[in-house]
Amino acid sequence: MQETLKRLEQDAMSALEKADSLERTREIEGEYLGRNGHITMILRGMKDLSDEEKRVVGPLCSATRTTLEEHFAKKIKIFEDKALAKELSKEFFDTTIPSSTRPLGHIHPLSQLQEEVERIFSQMGFTVTDGPEIESEHYNFESLNIPKDHPARDMQDTFFIQEKDDADHGRMVLRTQTSPVQIRAMEKYGAPLRLIVPGRVFRFEATDASHDSMFYQVEGLLIDKDISLAHLKGVLAEFLTRLFGKPVKVRFRPGYFPFVEPGLEVDFSCLLCEGKGCRVCKHSGWMEFMGAGMVHENVLKAGGIDSKEYQGWAFGFGLTRLVMMRYGIDDIRLLTNGDLRFNKQF
Ligand code: DAH
Repeated sequence: MQETLKRLEQDAMSALEKADSLERTREIEGEYLGRNGHITMILRGMKDLSDEEKRVVGPLCSATRTTLEEHFAKKIKIFEDKALAKELSKEFFDTTIPSSTRPLGHIHPLSQLQEEVERIFSQMGFTVTDGPEIESEHYNFESLNIPKDHPARDMQDTFFIQEKDDADHGRMVLRTQTSPVQIRAMEKYGAPLRLIVPGRVFRFEATDASHDSMFYQVEGLLIDKDISLAHLKGVLAEFLTRLFGKPVKVRFRPGYFPFVEPGLEVDFSCLLCEGKGCRVCKHSGWMEFMGAGMVHENVLKAGGIDSKEYQGWAFGFGLTRLVMMRYGIDDIRLLTNGDLRFNKQF
């Protein structure tokens, strides 16, 4: 029996060696390992053997079958691979042609800076909020202590989008500043408050390199008990230092805005010369940054906040101007004209 097996294995192997096609290999496989193949028949005949014989022949038979199965599988794979390679060689495939790539979109420098500003103020406990871009005269002016016919209205040239006067809210305008959101937030949340408002504002301006009819501002408002301008100075210095990644100093000068008293102009130390004086800061060592001040009593009143108990400060700066200062952009119109050659640089 053992010899029969040995011989069968040798026969199968030499037949396999001679096989020169996939079909022929499959045929020989059938002859030995198929349903009525030689090896299969021996395995099937095992049941007639004595237990002792089974113990010897059984494992031998299985081993022979496994060996043959492996050899057949190997040879079949060789033929199949060859067939596949032949199939593929019919199609010409030039692996040196550059693939077509889809250009990735990318975040506008204004949005990048806005996200950074939001992140830093959030870390300092400020809420980020917004309000409508189409606003009433009431919110945009009156509630901010800028009464009708007050000369301060001329500080901001306004797009009026409604002729008729509403008794309570006046005409509708495109908001000229983010400050009206101060009142909306006071009405909605009451005191204490700590928030920033990034957003678009609109001015009826002739466009040039430093003026556009739309730009971005960030409003800030903090209302609580025992608040002073020292807190404002600290918050702004911390904000600018985190934003620019190096120590920045802040300076206050007196300024006029109807909704604050006292009102301030805020400068920060020139980023380029760090206060020594250079061409960028016109040799002053300082960059003009924004308007700010202690929130006017009338404004707190308009927002429904008890000015005996609470006080606070507010500020407003131009996000668009800050982007321009940061990257040395000399024409505001570049930011909104949609030219990808510009946008891709940031
Ligand atoms: N709204 C002012 C503007 O657009 C900027 C401003 C100044 C905002 C002083 C403030 C502030 O909150 O206190 O020119």
